[in-house]
Amino acid sequence: MHRLIIFASGQGSNAQAIIDYFKKEGGVEVVLIVSNKAEAGVVNMAQREGIPYLLTNNKRLNETLILEELAGHNPSLIVLAGFLLKIPSAIIEAFRGRIINIHPALLPKWGGQGMWGHRVHHAVLEAGELQSGITIHLVDEEYDHGATLLQATCPVISGDIADTLAARIHKLEHFYYPRAIQFLLSNMAEE
Ligand code: GRF
Repeated sequence: MHRLIIFASGQGSNAQAIIDYFKKEGGVEVVLIVSNKAEAGVVNMAQREGIPYLLTNNKRLNETLILEELAGHNPSLIVLAGFLLKIPSAIIEAFRGRIINIHPALLPKWGGQGMWGHRVHHAVLEAGELQSGITIHLVDEEYDHGATLLQATCPVISGDIADTLAARIHKLEHFYYPRAIQFLLSNMAEE
């Protein structure tokens, strides 16, 4: 059985898509959800799904205690799904190559510090891009910078606003993120 830890700060629709996918597919258990927002939808979801969750903040994220807690769950992958705090280098170092993120645009454009949520979609729309999409990538010490694992595109449609583009991109995310995780896990030994 592969174990996943999901980090998320928002509504958690990607976390939900991943959980639902592996409920059907089997072989993968989400063992912990980490969030920095007690009132986030993803925390409700963890409660509803009966998945243990851990509330953190910037300070706690940088303490060795959390590193030990994460390591104690022995995850195959740590999956960032809309997590807004920077992952400390000690965590990246401990799980190098095993932390992945999803970004709601085609990196390397439209990424970096402060580029999250609707800000990304506004920037894409303002630039008059004809397509946008998603990037699933390894996490390294820089925001939105690690090696790309998968990109998928969707059109920007005339009349789009950030909400309509975000909804189209969420559909791509919900389809591809669980499958990308499954593919990565298929090349990893189970412990
Ligand atoms: C997603 O669009 C993801 O690309 C970004 O944050 C958003 C999280 O959405 N990193 P949700 O909380 O999974 O609905």
